[in-house]
Amino acid sequence: MKKLIKNGMIVTATDAYTGDILIEHGVITGIGKELSAEGAEMIDAAGCYVFPGGIDPHTHLDMPFGGTVTADDFETGTIAAAYGGTTTVIDFCLTTKGEPLQQAVDVWHAKSESRAAIDYSFHLMVSELNDRVLAELPGIIENEGITSLKVFMAYKNTFQADDGTLFKTLQTARQEGALVMVHAENGDVIEYLVNKAIDEGNTDPIYHALTRPPELEGEATGRAAYLTELTDSQLYVVHVTCAEAAWKIEEARKKGLRVYGETCPQYLTLDITDLEKPEFEGAKYVWSPPLREKWNQEELWKGLWNGSLQTIGSDQCSFNFKGQKELGRGDFSKIPNGGPTIEDRFSVVYSEGVEKGRISIHKFVDIISTQSAKLFGLFPQKGTIALGSDADIVIFDPSVKRTLSAATHHMNVDYNPFEGMEVTGEPVSVLVRGEFVIRDKQFVGAPGRGQYLRRKRFGDAARPLPGKAEVGGGV
Ligand code: URP
Ligand code: ZN
Ligand code: ZN
Ligand code: ZN
Repeated sequence: MKKLIKNGMIVTATDAYTGDILIEHGVITGIGKELSAEGAEMIDAAGCYVFPGGIDPHTHLDMPFGGTVTADDFETGTIAAAYGGTTTVIDFCLTTKGEPLQQAVDVWHAKSESRAAIDYSFHLMVSELNDRVLAELPGIIENEGITSLKVFMAYKNTFQADDGTLFKTLQTARQEGALVMVHAENGDVIEYLVNKAIDEGNTDPIYHALTRPPELEGEATGRAAYLTELTDSQLYVVHVTCAEAAWKIEEARKKGLRVYGETCPQYLTLDITDLEKPEFEGAKYVWSPPLREKWNQEELWKGLWNGSLQTIGSDQCSFNFKGQKELGRGDFSKIPNGGPTIEDRFSVVYSEGVEKGRISIHKFVDIISTQSAKLFGLFPQKGTIALGSDADIVIFDPSVKRTLSAATHHMNVDYNPFEGMEVTGEPVSVLVRGEFVIRDKQFVGAPGRGQYLRRKRFGDAARPLPGKAEVGGGV
């Protein structure tokens, strides 16, 4: 059935105009003024912004971590994401040493395919890069369309890979057209500081932050950038929290390197003092890297505004306070790391960014959607409102004022780190490939409707080929 979204203010990373959008067979087939509604279902968007659907490039759904499993799976997580204005997520597929990559990817397909309510794709974790992995990786990139590889520089004795592995991953990515993602913290030094703190009886949640100082994030970010330079490869630094790391990315980019950075809504709004909340409540604010001193937030906003940071990921990795975060009572190192932000990513950044005058509305669309599509090989199918693009659309009412709370959120978790935060603006309706997933603030989609997205290789030029139906997407 045709749909016509009428009279909204259409906003992309570059344009804003009042107009109508015609949708047929899940894609945008018309954009204009007063398009004919004949045979189409009419959707009135007057008074609202019409944004491209949010793309969350960083989620952990149904993921085993820290001796437990995340509270949100692909069903609850993607439904909550949709409520919040996100229409695509890219989740991290974990691998274990010795295990065939295809087996790991199949596990992630099994977790997601009958559950995801919005479109989704995977990044692939690289934990070792021996001849076996080298032989298998090109086939995974080609057949699964997984064109981003994740290396952990922290989490010693579990996820952490050594520098040799990172170096070889960068080399392989250069050859194969993949983007290497790093969790940039110096895991070896952190391991030492954590053990020392516990030995000294310093076991409260605040010591999570004190044993992971910003210098160790800056150091790892700089190290990864140098290895990227040496391999002439491309690097994406996930969850940048602090000035030390943002400056390293800026420095690398000034040298002309293909180095990119992501930050998260929690690092833009919450700070290290949250870890000091009494009654062990600080555990709700345990992320790695940790929340930082407040002044860092303005550096992150500045980085987003000047283009040294490109994207916003939620780093959704939810654990209930009761029974999960509580695993770390008496030993902060046993608190599962991560928090629930998939639902509020879009609105927190809109409200704190656009409403408070820190970024323009175009920059908002760019960091919440377009840049992720470009960097991860989904543009222009995703990430914009254009002829031929998927009709992934958010109708957003900027006049609503509301308070974020676990009492009203849709994530499957018993707290919200943004509890009590006042935000301006709310997604009213959300469409994925032309179908309503959220309609008038109600979920009307279905688990399993989300499609798996095979992605293009990094740098497959933003160069449309005349006569080809599908155009390339690059940066
Ligand atoms: O604390 C975090 N960030 N949890 C999720 C795993 C990761 O490092 O991204
Ligand atoms: Zn038709
Ligand atoms: Zn991480
Ligand atoms: Zn993460």
